[in-house]
Amino acid sequence: MPKAKKKSVKKTVKKAANKSAKSAATKKAIKTSKVRAGAKKSGEIGGEILLQPPRGMRDLLPGEQSYWSQIRRVLSRMALEYGFGRIDTPAVEYANLFIRSIGSGTDIVDKEMYLFSSRGGGDKLALRPEFTASIARAYLQHGMNVLAKPVKLFSTGPVYRYDRPQEGRYREHFQANFDIFGEQDPILDAQLIQLAHRVMASLGIKNIQFQVNSIGCPKCRKEYQDLLVAYFESKKQKLCQNCKKRLETNPLRILDCKEDKCIQVASAAPQSIDRLCPECRVHFKNLLEYLDELDLPYMINPKLVRGLNYYTKTVFEIWSGDENERKYSLGGGGRYDYLIEELGGEHTPAVGFALGMDRVVQEMKRVHARTHVEPKPQVFLAQLGDLAKKKSLKTFAELQKNGILTAESFGRGSLKSQLRVADKLGVQITLIIGQKEALDGTVIVKDMVSGTQETVGMDKLVLSVKKILKNNVIVSRNGE
Ligand code: HAM
Repeated sequence: MPKAKKKSVKKTVKKAANKSAKSAATKKAIKTSKVRAGAKKSGEIGGEILLQPPRGMRDLLPGEQSYWSQIRRVLSRMALEYGFGRIDTPAVEYANLFIRSIGSGTDIVDKEMYLFSSRGGGDKLALRPEFTASIARAYLQHGMNVLAKPVKLFSTGPVYRYDRPQEGRYREHFQANFDIFGEQDPILDAQLIQLAHRVMASLGIKNIQFQVNSIGCPKCRKEYQDLLVAYFESKKQKLCQNCKKRLETNPLRILDCKEDKCIQVASAAPQSIDRLCPECRVHFKNLLEYLDELDLPYMINPKLVRGLNYYTKTVFEIWSGDENERKYSLGGGGRYDYLIEELGGEHTPAVGFALGMDRVVQEMKRVHARTHVEPKPQVFLAQLGDLAKKKSLKTFAELQKNGILTAESFGRGSLKSQLRVADKLGVQITLIIGQKEALDGTVIVKDMVSGTQETVGMDKLVLSVKKILKNNVIVSRNGE
């Protein structure tokens, strides 16, 4: 062996030895970290691997998916009917976007945002705690202001909030958002509420209630807020610790504090709807007239303020209606006429809402709502022998391409065990490719309903299967 080559082989061997020593060291480290279980926290690198997602997050298993596909189907249909175009934005944005849009002083920004720095530490990023800020950012970034108004955008996806998890409240939850840019007519607010109502009705959720309020525009809100602060200042001693802080940071939120003593104080507080400027008053009055016309189940909740600072004029929430169960807000939204401007764009009135999909699923379960059931395969493809096995993948794809939903159990060798699977699935047709059929280019087609069977050429297979499926439907219809 030439000297140079010998040297390089030696080097490789040495490298491999190092590597194996290293991997032994790594293994030892893993072992040690397991031995010292509890020494490192589960979330830490080198800590124990917990077979569960982080707290407040969960898997949506196949058994639950029929609810989710039903929601997705209904949402897509509504988006189409009401002229919404789909938009998907990243789950991660620059943190500043949310801080500026939702506002500091809100629970979402101050307590619930997942904040982190990119590697290298340059960028301050956040997992999205909601969609509206991202959608507004995308609207501006992609010059959607030049599109014909209104611009209607629809999106769904996960949202992250570091809140205390409990039933119906997750750290990762899913939202469906409908947002409209470029028009300030209250008919759009009413149309969104109508859309939300139709989504719920289509999902079989009938017992819901809309709560609506108007929190005015920046002009009349300023006057109202001053009045509110003066009122709460005079009752400061009776407020909870949180609300004492809110008095400085976000006084409107005191109105929907859930502490008994704050509820009592808030019950006599001035109401925003009594302090609206003429423009906001007319806007709210018109909205209520549209809702009356639609005959929707709504009530005015003068304490509804919502937990995000960008709202103006209309705010609304959708509540589950059962008296005996714990009530949830299934969705919420409102106008945000100044958000686009605040992010650097031209004045663009906007209105939107989000449904909490997890809570909608929960409500569907509670009312035993109908779910979307995927069609079951009516054909099973079995194979026996090496050559047949090789042919079966192609045949399987051919059947699917022709719209014939087919099941298989290719990993099993014995015909008996494959047929047992076919039996369990309750298919109408079993196809068998054995050694002989593989050589001849044929398939045995067994009609499980009539019990008859025939051997057909591979080129006639699709036609033959379709014929049997069609006939069986006719037989079962006649049999009804
Ligand atoms: P939001 O009220 O914060 O509004 O959230 C919308 C819905 O998401 C809530 O009504 C609730 O059903 C659901 N939700 C919120 N937090 C959780 C959680 N931790 N676990 C489970 N579900 C939850 C917004 O996010 C606004 N961006 C909505 C909007 C769109 N406004 C205008 N356009």
